[in-house]
Formats: sequence, C-alpha cells, structure tokens
Amino acid sequence: MLRLLLRKFGNTSNYLHIGRLPEHKWMHTTNSLLHGEYEWQDPKSEDEIVRISYIDKDGKRTDVKGKVGDNVLYLAHRHGIEMEGACEASLACTTCHVYVIGKYYDLLPDAEEKEDDLLDMAPFLRENSRLGCQIILKKELDGIVLQLPTATRNFYVDGHKPKPH
Ligand code: FES
Repeated sequence: MLRLLLRKFGNTSNYLHIGRLPEHKWMHTTNSLLHGEYEWQDPKSEDEIVRISYIDKDGKRTDVKGKVGDNVLYLAHRHGIEMEGACEASLACTTCHVYVIGKYYDLLPDAEEKEDDLLDMAPFLRENSRLGCQIILKKELDGIVLQLPTATRNFYVDGHKPKPH
C-alpha cells in the first residue's frame, strides 16, 4: 500500500522506514520456490536467455544471463550477489527487497497483497520496490536492472542466511 502511494504521489524523501511489525504479519504461507525444490538449469537456447543486471548496495554492477522462468533471488545466489532471501521465497522476510529500475517495473505483474504488506515494512521503501523472490524472468524483462537497497530487515529468523543454490 505504501509503495502504491509512493508511486501515486511520489517520494517525499529517498526512503521510508517502517519499524513496527503488526502481529498478523508473523503468519506466512509457502510457495513452490522453497529451498530444495529449485533446481538450476542452464538456458537451452538463445531464446530462453534473459539478461539481468544487479547493482549491489555499493553500486557495483554485475551482469548475468538468466533464463525464462528463473527466480531472480536464486539467480542472484548462483552468481554470488548479496541478495539475502532469509525466508527462501516464502514471503516472510523482505531481505530480498530490490528496486526495479526504469521501464521494467511496469512490465512486472502486480504484487500480491502479501508482497505489498511485507513491502510496507521494508526499510528504504521506494515507489519501485519489489521483493526479488517474487520476480520470475520472462523474455520481456530482457535487460532488467535490479538495485539492492543499502540495508534490509529480516523478520523471519534472526541470523538465518540461506546457502547459495
Ligand atoms: Fe523472504 Fe523474499 S526471500 S520475502
């Protein structure tokens, strides 16, 4: 919701920090991209390739080749990019928070309510904020640029860091 307001009315500052976690936010569900169910496969043809650039919190840009159907969180892990993903795509943390740069934001499907609710609590929220674990590559996203915020907040399990896939 906050992100939608930012998009409608613009940023009044470069970031917005929401510090309180309402009780109902502790509930979460799982999806099909949980750790262990995701098996990496290289693109089988040029048609499948989706180029993606990650910009880390220090401004370092890493260009990688993903493929249609890749989850950008797990793709980041595979290439050593520091997108944490503490809850491993179960929509329970916000440590996969990213800014989607330029036209690519509008090419993404709308965020589900659960993603929006979590984003409302993410530090450094911006109008182009999304959760990386909910972004699945498709051919139209070729050239997408994702920037990592300067910090994320883990609501899930303190200290849990997923292993790269
Ligand atoms: Fe936890 Fe995306 S990895 S919400």
